[in-house]
Amino acid sequence: MLAMNKFKLLGITAISIAASVLVTACKDKRSTGWEYAPNMYRHIAYDPDQENLNFADGKTAQVPPKGTIPVGFTRFNYANTNAGYDSASRTLVSPKVYNFKDGEVLYQHFCGPCHGMTGQGDGLVVKHGYPAPPSYSTGQSSRGGAMKDLTDGKIYHTITYGLNAMGSYASQLSPEERWKVVAYVRHLQTL
Ligand code: HEC
Repeated sequence: MLAMNKFKLLGITAISIAASVLVTACKDKRSTGWEYAPNMYRHIAYDPDQENLNFADGKTAQVPPKGTIPVGFTRFNYANTNAGYDSASRTLVSPKVYNFKDGEVLYQHFCGPCHGMTGQGDGLVVKHGYPAPPSYSTGQSSRGGAMKDLTDGKIYHTITYGLNAMGSYASQLSPEERWKVVAYVRHLQTL
């Protein structure tokens, strides 16, 4: 009984070795062997840097047509100039009304370090020597007028482009988040 099992085992081993030799023997040295999912190696879609005869210039990566905007992108049609700032003041309005509480945490994280938690221009980095921004309630804007009179459009324009020592927050805050922060700044103007 044991002897027969030994032969059986030997036979199975021999067949397995022969099978694996057969499977691997014919491949050329640069081949990866059998491909499990060939589409992963040779996909149907064009690579961006691949030649593409479907287009006149033969390239896959085409320049987007003029005037196209990415999905979900909100266009901001006000220039980073005093004229753009004034124009935003007159015509730019929030697409939605926000409660100032909606912008509280965003303000504390992004603006509070300079403007201070109550908007008095006494944030932590100012205490360490950074130029102090004017108070939202009692200060004067360097562009003229009292800080407490800054309109939604002026505040939104400032968040989007920054102003002198203050950088732009356009890459950190989405348009919706910027409007929430504007609502919070409007609240701080009244303190
Ligand atoms: C790195 C410090 C810093 C941070 C952070 C900062 N600011 Fe300022 N901000 C300033 C300074 C400094 C000024 C004054 C700039 C000037 O008038 O030259 C200013 C000015 C302003 C003004 C007045 C603009 C005007 O027209 O006079 C507004 C409004 C304002 N900031 C809003 C914000 C908001 C909202 C945030 C958060 C998203 C923010 N700031 C974050 C430093 C900062």
